[in-house]
Amino acid sequence: MEIRIANQADRDDVRSIYLSAFPEGERNLISDLAVDLLTQRTTPVTLSLVAESGGDAVGHVAFSPVAFRNSEDVHGHILAPLAVEPTHQKTGIGSALVEDGIRKLSEMGTSIFFVYGDPKYYGRFGFSGDVAKPFKPPYDLQYPFGWQAITLDEALAKKCLGPISCVPALCNPKLW
Ligand SMILES: CC(C)(COP(=O)(O)OP(=O)(O)OC[C@H]1O[C@@H](n2cnc3c(N)ncnc32)[C@H](O)[C@@H]1OP(=O)(O)O)[C@@H](O)C(=O)NCCC(=O)NCCS
Repeated sequence: MEIRIANQADRDDVRSIYLSAFPEGERNLISDLAVDLLTQRTTPVTLSLVAESGGDAVGHVAFSPVAFRNSEDVHGHILAPLAVEPTHQKTGIGSALVEDGIRKLSEMGTSIFFVYGDPKYYGRFGFSGDVAKPFKPPYDLQYPFGWQAITLDEALAKKCLGPISCVPALCNPKLW
């Protein structure tokens, strides 16, 4: 299995990963998000990664930047979305994508990562609801317990960075 940076040419493969991995009610919304983020040009960067196995794209993750109302100096990203094609799940691909993205972006200066997802899965990487609590998400959450963050800079939470805003592709209340 190999992880590489995704590009626009991956759009059909990325879409089919999400169509296969998510249930019917969500799959179109989430696959549109993943494809939209492939072309998002942002500063700091929006990072999309693809996991390949035997030459096939079998997993994908995207990290897009968030902005803090009270600070332009702190760099943060939100992890969304993430999926692994069902026949390749439970082989470590999801974890490798999450860890690789966090490592790459940390090296580029990101000091806090957010995610809105299942704490039973994301907790294994160190994401926690307590770290995310001071940061109000852009929309009211359907499942507030899913709002989590991870940072190596514990002083960040005390800096009152305020509510966060996200890239246009994530500005859809249905995603929250
Ligand atoms: C979540 C997902 C990306 C994990 O990918 P993966 O490659 O199977 O993950 P890994 O192999 O790194 O880890 C597998 C472990 O995660 C667990 N896991 C997977 N989804 C989970 C979930 N929603 N809640 C809790 N644990 C979960 C598996 O049971 C397995 O546990 P184990 O290590 O104790 O056996 C994949 O299951 C998927 O695409 N699911 C459908 C889409 C989705 O839910 N995306 C994430 C949105 S929050």
